[in-house]
Amino acid sequence: MDQIDIVPVLVRWIHIVAAVVAIGGATFMAFAFVPSLRETLDENHREKLTAAVRGRWGKIVHLCIAVLLLTGAGNFVLLALKAGLKPMPYHALFGLKFIAAMVIFFLASALVGRSPGFAGMRQRPAGPLKAIVGLGVLIILLSGVMSSVRHSPSSKKATTTDTPTATLTIPQP
Ligand code: HEM
Repeated sequence: MDQIDIVPVLVRWIHIVAAVVAIGGATFMAFAFVPSLRETLDENHREKLTAAVRGRWGKIVHLCIAVLLLTGAGNFVLLALKAGLKPMPYHALFGLKFIAAMVIFFLASALVGRSPGFAGMRQRPAGPLKAIVGLGVLIILLSGVMSSVRHSPSSKKATTTDTPTATLTIPQP
């Protein structure tokens, strides 16, 4: 069996764990926690519980964002740049995924932060939470496609050591 390089595997594991925690947490908030809050508590208790949850969940959200950015950049360097992948279509998929991730990070930071500018969003979190879940699913699908593209034989750039695929025939006089 070929030897496995442990660093890309570790970086990928950590990336996937952070993604599962972040998108799983947002799914729970959007479809279980927020609707149950409205059904069961009066405004005063709702605000107390929301503030307590935000204090704890906010730390995990910030940690997940930092880990996803660091390990995502690590994945890109180790799996795409160092491996010499052809830019198309891998880099285009990566660009799309990166933009969607930035939107998620913005919405998540606004929801767990204290900025008065986003108080309205925190009052009605269901919409932004559902947007996070939808974009999260899109990102997971895009990441799966990126992985398949990376494993396809045509995705590797030609190197000087590759066998030539065309030969030049010199016409005889
Ligand atoms: C909410 C944010 C994110 C989620 C949910 C997410 C999710 C994932 C998942 C599930 C995979 C594994 C895909 C598979 O093996 O099938 C993956 C791989 C990857 N992610 Fe992310 N990710 C996020 C953010 C980022 C960011 C910010 C970057 C770049 C800075 C990034 C770069 C990558 C790269 C390069 C891969 C490897 C894809 C491949 O196999 O070729 N990710 N991501």
